[in-house]
Amino acid sequence: MPVDANQIKAGAPADAPEDLIAWVSEIAQLTKPADVYWADGSQEEYDRICEEMVAQGTLIKLNEEKRPNSYLARSSASDVARVESRTYICTEKAEDAGPTNNWADPKEMKETLKGLFDGCMRGRTMYVIPFSMGPVGGDISRLGVEITDSPYVVISMRIMTRMGDPALKQIATGEFWVPGVHSVGYPLVDADGNTREDVAWPCNDEKYITHFPETREIWSYGSGYGGNALLGKKCYALRIASALAHDEGWLAEHMLILKITDDKDRVFHLTAAFPSACGKTNLAMLRPTIEGMKVETIGDDIAWMRKGKDGRLYAINPEAGFFGVAPGTSEATNPTALHALDKNVIFTNVALTDDGDVWWEGLTDEKPAHLIDWQGNDWTPESETPAAHPNSRFTVAADQAESISDDWDDPHGVPVDVILFGGRRATNVPLISESYNWEQGVFVGATVSSEQTAAAEGAVGALRRDPFAMLPFCGYNMAEYWAHWLEVGKDLGDKAPKIFQVNWFRKDENGKFMWPGFGDNSRPIKWALQRVAGELDAEDALSGRLPKKGDLDLSGLDLSDETMEKIFHLDPHAWGVEADLTEDFFERFGETLPEQMTVELAALRDRILAAENDQASTKQATSANA
Ligand code: OXD
Ligand code: MN
Repeated sequence: MPVDANQIKAGAPADAPEDLIAWVSEIAQLTKPADVYWADGSQEEYDRICEEMVAQGTLIKLNEEKRPNSYLARSSASDVARVESRTYICTEKAEDAGPTNNWADPKEMKETLKGLFDGCMRGRTMYVIPFSMGPVGGDISRLGVEITDSPYVVISMRIMTRMGDPALKQIATGEFWVPGVHSVGYPLVDADGNTREDVAWPCNDEKYITHFPETREIWSYGSGYGGNALLGKKCYALRIASALAHDEGWLAEHMLILKITDDKDRVFHLTAAFPSACGKTNLAMLRPTIEGMKVETIGDDIAWMRKGKDGRLYAINPEAGFFGVAPGTSEATNPTALHALDKNVIFTNVALTDDGDVWWEGLTDEKPAHLIDWQGNDWTPESETPAAHPNSRFTVAADQAESISDDWDDPHGVPVDVILFGGRRATNVPLISESYNWEQGVFVGATVSSEQTAAAEGAVGALRRDPFAMLPFCGYNMAEYWAHWLEVGKDLGDKAPKIFQVNWFRKDENGKFMWPGFGDNSRPIKWALQRVAGELDAEDALSGRLPKKGDLDLSGLDLSDETMEKIFHLDPHAWGVEADLTEDFFERFGETLPEQMTVELAALRDRILAAENDQASTKQATSANA
């Protein structure tokens, strides 16, 4: 029998306010779960739910000696990534969602959802999860409540957010909170009372990840995978929060946050936007190869930023954990992440070793002789498929990283000095380039493109525009989002952070990466900090300002002048082609495109022309001298 409203009221924690109880009852009436459980966020609760999931076959407990208190989950093969094609922004007017989002009419979508959610939790427990994005009670923090029928979501939300009683107490004070409803869409009982057995990873082939930015609601159906199901992350902290931020004058961004102490003991803070799976976690835990420089982690994925009392921009990490891509993480690429995974981890879709530990491609040079792959099949190095799914993940508390900064959970945030925009680009984009001003920085952010990775479905390697790394995460019209960035810049004035574009991924004519990357990325970052400190001049170029010869700290690196030249080479013709593509891209936004973007594009074309003329006159001079 589904629970009724009286039972829900009786079972609610003493702190639960009436409006929350009423909403929970309404959702229970629709979804018809067998019972309702209010999560308190305690360790005891976490351990108990994990045990239940082990008994149910959803989690495999890893070898306690090798990987204490850690588990492996294997998802269904049809539920391994965010599904952007099924992600919707539901606004009254289609133009408010903009051309880069899937739009749906809110009323129609609510009807569809009502049909899908009707009875979708039959035979299951409905969990109520109060949570805070950002430290509970902080001025930049926000509250939410997720309802879900997935215990995997409950344990993951406990790691990724501040979940449970303290957040509920804050909600009880009457503060604003965002409701999110999630179901895997796999009821165990049908409307006639017929039952079926549960499966290890319940989900539904039909998926809807829907957002209602005007009413600040989230409804997600059919997937149990991270970004689709842990509603605090992409759905709230980016899509809904970007709309909140637009209306309230702040920024919700797909950016990591670092604290950097340079070799002169000066402290800077940097945020960086990178598309999914572009080494963001590696940068968030960077070990600089520059003597005397120290990098500490504040966040690895999302930054909420607001103007502080002193007029500077302050950032918090709204999350409490890392949901990182496992493949490629190793002692060589990211020792800090690897050590953070020693204990208390939920792994999803990695391979299982014969001694009950985990493995993924890139973890060790030598592949184990035998594994159980992410789908539960025997695997040997001769197997033709990867042992771990390319988008397999770890979920771990942020403070398990030895690089975590003392002020990572400061509710006031940290003042931002530098903003980086990055992408994965084999050609054209130089190692680092400083924007001439905030407006050009916004143009650079708006036109960033990157090669597609495995974090979302789609053709890996294809080039796609990913403005501000927010393409799948902006909860409203992207062109209005750029306008909002321009406004924020105006408001910050000369206290605005400096904006740089970076590219660690440029390749030579043989397809080999030219820049060593990883810890050596501290070198262009050092140059950015020196620019902020006003120590160095720079060279004006068509992309922006570049380091003058000799200014980039390359001490101890064995890179020829010729390679460095290639890493910074700007081909005006190729840039002209990109400018044409940008024009096409901008056309998609019609009237909503801010005028300033057209001005910046024209300025870029002027610089391209000037560079072409320079090249032509150099050629002429060379042939005249020949
Ligand atoms: C992520 C993503 O999981 O960007 O962080 O896809
Ligand atoms: Mn991300």
